[in-house]
Formats: sequence, C-alpha cells, structure tokens
Amino acid sequence: MSEPTILVTGGTGTTGSRITTRLRARGVDPRVASRSSACRLDWAEPGTWAPALAGARAVYLAYAPDLAVPDSDDVLAAVTRTAAAAGVRRVVLLSGRGEPGAQRAEAAVRQAAEEGGLAWTVLRCSWFVQNFTEGQFAGELAAGELTLPVPHVPEPFLDAEDIADVAVAALLDDGHAGRTYELTGPRALTFDEAVAEVAAVTGRPARLRRVPFAAYAAGLTAAGVPDDVVALMAHLFTEVLDGRNAAPTDGVQRALGRPATDLADAVRRGALAGSGR
Ligand SMILES: NC(=O)c1ccc[n+]([C@@H]2O[C@H](COP(=O)([O-])OP(=O)(O)OC[C@H]3O[C@@H](n4cnc5c(N)ncnc54)[C@H](OP(=O)(O)O)[C@@H]3O)[C@@H](O)[C@H]2O)c1
Repeated sequence: MSEPTILVTGGTGTTGSRITTRLRARGVDPRVASRSSACRLDWAEPGTWAPALAGARAVYLAYAPDLAVPDSDDVLAAVTRTAAAAGVRRVVLLSGRGEPGAQRAEAAVRQAAEEGGLAWTVLRCSWFVQNFTEGQFAGELAAGELTLPVPHVPEPFLDAEDIADVAVAALLDDGHAGRTYELTGPRALTFDEAVAEVAAVTGRPARLRRVPFAAYAAGLTAAGVPDDVVALMAHLFTEVLDGRNAAPTDGVQRALGRPATDLADAVRRGALAGSGR
C-alpha cells in the first residue's frame, strides 16, 4: 500500500465501505473515518476533523444522517476549509437529488473548495437500491412486508456500487474536477414495483404496505425515534418524493463510460455476494 492517503468519511457505511474496498484493490490505503472507526471523526465535533484530515490528499464526504438536516451546509463548508488548511487537494461530496438542503450543502462545499484551491466533484444521487437490501428497510422487507408512507411516484433506484465506482474515479483520476454528476439507475420504478422485483430476485415474498405519513410518524414516535429524525423522514417522504426525481439520467454513463446498473442486477449480485459489499 502506498500514498496518496484518501480519507473516506462514512467509511463504514453503504457507500464508504464500497469505496474503501475499491481503493485497496487499486493499491491505495484508505483512511476510514466515522464515530466508531480507529480514525474517529464526528460531524458534531469539529475538533475531530483536522486530525482525521491530516496528511490526506483527497477526501470523500458522506454526511450523516442526511444533508437535509439544518446546518449541514455550514458544517460541510467548515470541514472543506479545514481540509484546505490540511493540504487536501480533492473533495468528493455525496449528495441527494432534488433536495434543497443538499443543494445548499453542495454550494457551500463548492465555494469553500474554490476559495481553498481544492478540486471538487459532487455525486448527486437518487435513492439507493441498498435501502431495500441492507439499509433501514431491509429487515421489514425480509420479513415480508415493508410499511412506508410513499406516494405512487417512480424513482430511478441507484446501485451503491455505481456510486462507489464514480467516487473512486473522482478521488483518484483526473477529469472529474468541477463536475456535478446526477447519478440514477437506468429505470424508474414505483416502490411497489421495486419491492416486487426485490422479492422476485431474492425468492422471498414481500409486499409494500402504503400508509399516510401521519400514521407512519406516529409509529416512529411510539418506537422512540427522536422528533428531528421524524421531521427528516417527513421531508424525504412528503416533499422530495413528489415526482421531481422520477426521470433517469445518464450520469453514470457520463462519469464512467458505461451504463448504470439495473435494480434487479444489483439485488441479484448483492444476494450472490452475501452482503453485497
Ligand atoms: N440512502 C439513500 O437512498 C441516499 C440517497 C441519496 C443520498 N444519500 C446520502 O447518503 C449519505 C449517507 O451515506 P451512506 O448511505 O453511504 O452511509 P450510511 O450507510 O447511512 O452510514 C452512515 C455512515 O456515517 C457514519 N456516521 C453516522 N453519524 C456520524 C457522525 N455524526 N459523524 C461522523 N460519521 C457519522 C456512520 O458510521 P458511525 O456510526 O461509526 O459514525 C457510517 O459510516 C447521507 O448524506 C444521505 O443524505 C442517501
């Protein structure tokens, strides 16, 4: 393993873990950062940022829980300024499609990067396929019924493996600086269709149970989910899923020169691999 050091924030998460796997395969030793990693970084603790960034040439920014939370733009601008002061040369931001809060955070990172002389790339992503297979919906879906307050709106679900491929290209290769890639899967599916396809591929019957958001929120609150997380869910389910993100893009093709992975193929590959990571 050799330089350059790449800092992967959210390095234990859905996209970060895939990015670290790819970097290692390319002979680069990634520095995995999160609250539970040996390199500890907490977005809520600015004192953890500079030690994590020290000596890194490039950084992958995956903000948690979501760029839609208030002040994510201020936090990420400050992180980017800290990165510039630490000598980082490239920043790659994971963002969400059609989310005003995420687009504010993108603008804040872009501005701080340009002021600090960093190259930036934004990966503006649609919903991940892996939400169904290993993320927050996976348990319910495996049990046969996924309850969600989703409208009958199609979404071009995106394979996190494609995100990782684009992120690694942007972190290591020239030619992605100053680009905002709108990354989606190749087909827009309603949540009912997506659940049916996941069930068909895995061979485990499952259905979507659609509920009004108020009932969903009441269930979350009763289960002890904090009010700010319920508010975040309200934003994601009732504002962002209004059809604005329904059209697939050619972002994966533009970034990588190959088509985006279909949901069924992503689920099949993940099932064959066990976790998919
Ligand atoms: N899921 C989707 O469909 C979707 C679509 C578009 C965009 N996004 C964006 O994807 C991002 C999440 O990325 P992901 O899905 O790859 O990760 P993830 O699977 O949600 O995992 C979260 C990662 O962040 C770390 N983390 C959590 N809280 C943290 C904190 N306070 N400080 C530092 N690290 C923290 C976690 O590790 P520790 O617990 O060890 O800290 C973990 O590595 C969010 O910004 C979200 O908006 C998601």
